[in-house]
Amino acid sequence: MSVLVIEGLHVEVGGKPVLRGVDLALEPGQVHALMGPNGSGKSTLALALAGEPGYTVTRGRATLDGEDLLSLPPHERARKGLFLAFQYPPEIEGVSLREFLRLACAERGQGFCEFQRSYPHALRRLRMEGFDGRELNVGFSGGEKKRSELLQLYLLRPKVALLDEPDSGVDVDALRLIAEAIRELAEGGTAVLIITHYPRILEHVPPSEVFVLDGGSIVERGGPELAHRIGEEGFEVIRR
Ligand SMILES: Nc1ncnc2c1ncn2[C@@H]1O[C@H](COP(=O)(O)OP(=O)(O)OP(=O)(O)O)[C@@H](O)[C@H]1O
Ligand SMILES: [Mg+2]
Repeated sequence: MSVLVIEGLHVEVGGKPVLRGVDLALEPGQVHALMGPNGSGKSTLALALAGEPGYTVTRGRATLDGEDLLSLPPHERARKGLFLAFQYPPEIEGVSLREFLRLACAERGQGFCEFQRSYPHALRRLRMEGFDGRELNVGFSGGEKKRSELLQLYLLRPKVALLDEPDSGVDVDALRLIAEAIRELAEGGTAVLIITHYPRILEHVPPSEVFVLDGGSIVERGGPELAHRIGEEGFEVIRR
């Protein structure tokens, strides 16, 4: 059964209609990919689902485990197991990476002892041992911010992970590291949506389904070969 179901979702940003009827479903333990031209609304979809202010749902519905998601405030959506890794992760001054993660894990029901065990392992897994005492994302390079988002995800083990371009700006080694962490997460049962422009990351974590967003709705669905065709030929393949 699908864990996240989106039906006929319409979203406006700054008074402008961006999404015009998006339908998609994410399955537990599966990796899905969302592609689409710049400005097609991929981040809008992720932000609207997470409850970002200013992203107004005007029609349609979204459920998490059969429960209405859109009537909940953002922190309740997160508590119920929805996670968004930002395309542009924010820098939070005055909050250490460790403290942020400890509090986030406590909200998801992980006790202190469990955190003490899992945190060092996760730091090693994402090769972020040197970041323990740093403020959250402050002064991190672009690729380090992406790894920091994955570190959160890895510790929180959400039901649904929306990853907005986890591969943008990361070097080849970090890409492999990130892809492996995503694969491990899916094997643990998380439903994953990778928003990406390039098939490269999907070679490491093959998706069960690829969606293409254009003009505010899903215009094409397919297997991993669809991502390859788009990588080779661009979005002309869906406009023919
Ligand atoms: N506050 C705003 N006011 C007006 N338009 C906005 C606002 N925020 C976003 N948009 C527009 O919404 C559209 C969708 O943007 P979005 O960031 O969702 O695209 P995207 O598919 O994630 O693109 P990219 O691949 O470049 O990340 C764009 O045309 C963008 O300019
Ligand atoms: Mg985007």
